[in-house]
Amino acid sequence: MTKLRFLITAGPTQEPIDPVRYLSNYSSGKMGYALAEAALQKGHHVTLISGPTSLVKPTKAHVIPVTTALEMHRAVMKHYRKADVIIKTAAVADYRPVKQAKQKIKKSKKGITLKLVRNPDILFELGTRKHKNQILVGFAAETRQIHRNALHKLKKKNCDWIVLNNVARKGIGFGSDYNKVFLLSQKGRMIPLPRMTKKNLASKIINVILT
Ligand code: CTP
Repeated sequence: MTKLRFLITAGPTQEPIDPVRYLSNYSSGKMGYALAEAALQKGHHVTLISGPTSLVKPTKAHVIPVTTALEMHRAVMKHYRKADVIIKTAAVADYRPVKQAKQKIKKSKKGITLKLVRNPDILFELGTRKHKNQILVGFAAETRQIHRNALHKLKKKNCDWIVLNNVARKGIGFGSDYNKVFLLSQKGRMIPLPRMTKKNLASKIINVILT
C-alpha cells in the first residue's frame, strides 16, 4: 500500500474582538480529528492543522495548533505542497473584526457596531493552486437548498469531492458524535452515507476518496 501524506484542517477558528472576547462557531473538531485518526490507522502520514478544540490530539500526527483564520491560512499555505490528500474539515470564520481592541471593551448605555472584514477563503485558494495528483476535499455545512449549495461550492472551489452535511438537523453534525453526509464528486458522483459515528464515517470517506 502507498503511504500518502494527508493534510487535514479541523475545528473552528476564533477571531479576537478584545482580550476577553472572540467570534467563532459551533464546530467541535470531531469530524476532522476522526479523519486524522482514520488516515493514521490506514497507515498514512497526517499533518493536522487544528483550531481550538478540547479533543485529545492524535499522537502519531504532526499537529499544528492555530487560533485564527489568518493563522490557519498561513499554516495551510506552508504545508499544502507536499500533501497528496487535503481535507478541509475546519469551520473557518468568514469574517474577523477589523481590529482587535487592546483593552477590554467596556459597556455603555448605547449599543455598539462591530466592523468585520473578510478572511481568506483557504479552500478556494487551494483549488486555484492544487497540482494534478492532489485530491482536494472540502466540507459544506448547509441549512437549506443543501445539494444546490454544495454543488456550487464543489465547482467554485475546484474540489475533487465535497462532503455535504445538513447542519440544520438535530443529533448530527456540529458537536455530535454522529453525522450523515453526502459525498459529491467533481465527476458527478453522489454517494449518500447514512447516519453513523464520525469515526466510522471518517473511515468510509477516506475509502471513497482514495478509490
Ligand atoms: N473554507 C475555507 N476558508 C473559509 C471558509 C470556508 O477554507 N474562509 C472551507 C471550509 O473548510 C469548508 C468549505 O470551505 O471545507 C466550505 O465551508 P462553508 O462554511 O460550508 O462555506 P463557505 O465557503 O464559508 O460559504 P458560505 O458561508 O457562503 O456557505
